[in-house]
Amino acid sequence: MKFDTPATTNPIDRLKVIGRPTDRIDGPLKTTGTAPYAYERHDAVPNPAYGYIVGSAIAKGRITAIDVRPAEAAPGVLAIVTAENAGTLGKGDYNTAKLLGGPEIDHYHQAIAVVVAETFEQARAAAQLVRVDYVRTEGAFDLAAARDSAIIPKPGIGGPPDTAVGDFDTAFAAAPVRLDETYTTPDQGHAMMEPHASIAAWNGDKLTLWTSNQMIDWSTGDVAKTLGIPKENVRLVSPFIGGGFGGKLWVRADAVLAAVGARAARRPVKVTLPRPLMFNNTTHRPATIQRIRIGAARDGRITAIGHESWSGDLPGGGPELAANQTRLLYAGADRMTTTRLAVLDLPEGNAMRAPGEAPGMMALEIAIDEMAEKLGLDPVEFRIINDTQVDPEKPERPFSQRHLVECLRTGADRFGWNRRNPQPGQIRDGRWLVGMGVAAAFRNNLVMKSGARVRLDHRGDVTVETDMTDIGTGSYTIIAQTAAEMMGVPLDKVVVRLGDSTFPVSCGSGGQFGASNSTSGVYAACVKLREAVAQRLGFNSAEAVFADGRVRAGNRSALLAQAAGEGGLVAEDAIEYGDLDKTHQQSTFGAHFVEAAVDAATGEIRVRRMLSVCAAGRILNPKAARSQVIGAMTMGVGAALMEELAVDKRHGFFVNHDLAGYEVPVHADIPHQDMIFLDEADPYSSPMKAKGVAELGICGVAAAVANAVTNATGVRVRDYPITLDKLLDRLPQVA
Ligand code: MOS
Repeated sequence: MKFDTPATTNPIDRLKVIGRPTDRIDGPLKTTGTAPYAYERHDAVPNPAYGYIVGSAIAKGRITAIDVRPAEAAPGVLAIVTAENAGTLGKGDYNTAKLLGGPEIDHYHQAIAVVVAETFEQARAAAQLVRVDYVRTEGAFDLAAARDSAIIPKPGIGGPPDTAVGDFDTAFAAAPVRLDETYTTPDQGHAMMEPHASIAAWNGDKLTLWTSNQMIDWSTGDVAKTLGIPKENVRLVSPFIGGGFGGKLWVRADAVLAAVGARAARRPVKVTLPRPLMFNNTTHRPATIQRIRIGAARDGRITAIGHESWSGDLPGGGPELAANQTRLLYAGADRMTTTRLAVLDLPEGNAMRAPGEAPGMMALEIAIDEMAEKLGLDPVEFRIINDTQVDPEKPERPFSQRHLVECLRTGADRFGWNRRNPQPGQIRDGRWLVGMGVAAAFRNNLVMKSGARVRLDHRGDVTVETDMTDIGTGSYTIIAQTAAEMMGVPLDKVVVRLGDSTFPVSCGSGGQFGASNSTSGVYAACVKLREAVAQRLGFNSAEAVFADGRVRAGNRSALLAQAAGEGGLVAEDAIEYGDLDKTHQQSTFGAHFVEAAVDAATGEIRVRRMLSVCAAGRILNPKAARSQVIGAMTMGVGAALMEELAVDKRHGFFVNHDLAGYEVPVHADIPHQDMIFLDEADPYSSPMKAKGVAELGICGVAAAVANAVTNATGVRVRDYPITLDKLLDRLPQVA
């Protein structure tokens, strides 16, 4: 089905199942520990061997000798695979560095061997016996030092690296009120609960991988490319995923080394990345340096806005698109953005929840707060003054929907923003200095082709199959809701099967594009199934109404099960998009409000209250979507106050590479969290009229926390995370 004209009224609009706060249908499996995760597929593979990965001990250089003989002689060892005996391995489209390194080393903890043994403990013990000699070469590990030699990256999904409208320099110089500040965000790790894990089993030249992966089709292709075998010989199975946040968009070493380990050992092999290996072996969100310049008239109208971003990646990698939201978020006639890429030898940078906007909004939304302060304007009002209903770089392009102002006003009202003292450092509560902060939320909506197959059986049950994944987001449930709404059956008459490369190719989970696109693919398949049902019953399909397990047309009526007959009916289709995302800018909007308390003596920061208001098209399942946003808000607090992969700039690795050293907050750290969805349906986005929401929820949160800390203390911190050492000697002297 081609979606190239705005959606009109369709069966989803009945909202009998869609739009209802619905419990997750996979909830009981998850909460009873019976959802089979990749490493636990004892049902599928009864007697696997265990692979343990050896990571490089240097960041850049070369292996001069690798001696596996002591490890081979260790108890239980079945095989050891290194680059020397792995055969030719290629590289997938979505990896920058090789997943099995050697003799050249591209980054610290790059996999250089997998030891396969009868038990996990034997494999781990033998892995310690692999002797490796290296010769190190100089590497570049310091973004700030590499900033001046950064290159202009190739245009990618985010468009060109640079944009310019009007004459920024002249307008900025002429502006009566100006801000020119630089902000930094650190490297961050996904720190999802379930580590990367895979079980590989060969049947002749055919490989099955039970793995934990967000993008089944990309990754099936990348496994095939890496192993040099046809894609049709690879099957990926990934029905349950314990979090991804972008870290599982790609195939990683666990999958590839399970496959080569299984080939060498002639046994199914399971491999997980131990937590201390994950942070340097896999991808991370790259650190950024962001210079923001804003010029405004005294009435608060922005006349010039410029955002320059620098980030690093391995040779051949890509930049963090941290300036991109500044192309779209606020008005201003003269504007510029630039994106630069420093070539570094740190582990591979790539997508982490809301890549681009998440770190970009961390900087931009402090800058906006600082500018409001300079202008003597309330930061909510300053944002409202600079709202735009058209793409500020291409004024002929309207936003499909844009309710940023309503988000800000609703949030201000519900949060009690009028109780905020604009003068910082004035509110005391015992030893605590208390303040409030606000930030806008912004994230684009992406359209992606997505397919599904729908089957109706003689009992009237509906089965949906698609390679879509559920990374903890609620895909199972919203897909079941979609099929139930379309076919006019209750939710318990729908079975959803996900995450298998033998199913139709979906959009997958990433970039908050999963919900709208995957359900639209199910919608398209259900439209075909409805036609097949009507045809079999001899009903006019345009007239047919599907409700209560029946089909009605005119004065005729039949059970859905009756139409299916003994053999059932099957339909398959995909949603494909025209250019509605080009004629109209599709984005999601929100506003974050935070109350923070800072210990006047120690600088300890506590987030006391948070409220987010989101405008993101139709909300398919308000319960699941709310959980996504609350989780994103919590993750945003981590970005504000805790998360930083500390770089060892001499040896080139992330020092705090475990969950003891890489701290993240949990819901219990924040006493009051709430969120509100504005009532929207966006006819330009998809037949579902939905957009994404899970990444919107993190964008801007950290800046709202930062702005609350400034309102509490009068101290402005521009380098994340805002740890107490950055406040301590600048706190107001208190009696
Ligand atoms: Mo998201 S970072 O695209 O999984």
